[in-house]
Amino acid sequence: MRRKLVAGNWKMNGRRATNIGLVQAVSDAARELEGVDVWLAPPAVYLLQVAELMQGGGLGLVAQNAAREQDGAFTGEISAEMLADAGCRAVLVGHSERRSLYGETDAAVAEKFARIQAAGLVPVLCVGEALAEREAEQTVAVVLRQLGVVIDACGIDALERAVVAYEPVWAIGTGRTASPGQAQEVHAVLRAEVARYSGAVAAGLRILYGGSVKAANAAALFAEADIDGALVGGASLSADEFVAIARAASSAR
Ligand code: 13P
Repeated sequence: MRRKLVAGNWKMNGRRATNIGLVQAVSDAARELEGVDVWLAPPAVYLLQVAELMQGGGLGLVAQNAAREQDGAFTGEISAEMLADAGCRAVLVGHSERRSLYGETDAAVAEKFARIQAAGLVPVLCVGEALAEREAEQTVAVVLRQLGVVIDACGIDALERAVVAYEPVWAIGTGRTASPGQAQEVHAVLRAEVARYSGAVAAGLRILYGGSVKAANAAALFAEADIDGALVGGASLSADEFVAIARAASSAR
């Protein structure tokens, strides 16, 4: 039985003053919830502050990005080793905003994935199709390509220490969620692909859904067999909304 996971991706939002109340509210609520892991991904500059605020609350700290390289002369970059040193447990990799706005290629994503695992952290590999790709019936081809690049580079066993997030680009920040059925269909395809290599890895792999998840639609998504939780953007900036999503995951066990 896979344990549910709800992760909040703050993206480029937050301030030291407002982070305090948000993290404390989530931490207090998460302590009471059973059967769900709750992770937060603040901007890098706030990781140390959030790590301190989380202490004793059982939350997981996640970075939104990591460098492709190891420590060295890479001005402005932050290595996976540094993120481990800062107390992170996991790192998002391949988010569609990184792919589309910052030109991250499949090859860069695979290298970052390996680098994150080498630092002892869990990569949260984001995959998902753009609207035009869905309309051209390319959804399955796109997500399997994005997953396949990582399997080819890192091997199937690497997915034992990873999380996958299916985030259709057309559903991110648009208020337009994939229906539970649409999401489940893609999650099942991803799991079946992993199962072609290893049934055991497929059975243990947590596949999150992301894209306009909120309290009102979370329970229906979590009721699907292959949806193991959510990667939440906008709604993770509200303690009430985010906690309600985590609560829905806890009662979906
Ligand atoms: P929204 O929940 O704001 O649609 O963002 C989803 C996302 O990109 C999480 O990584």
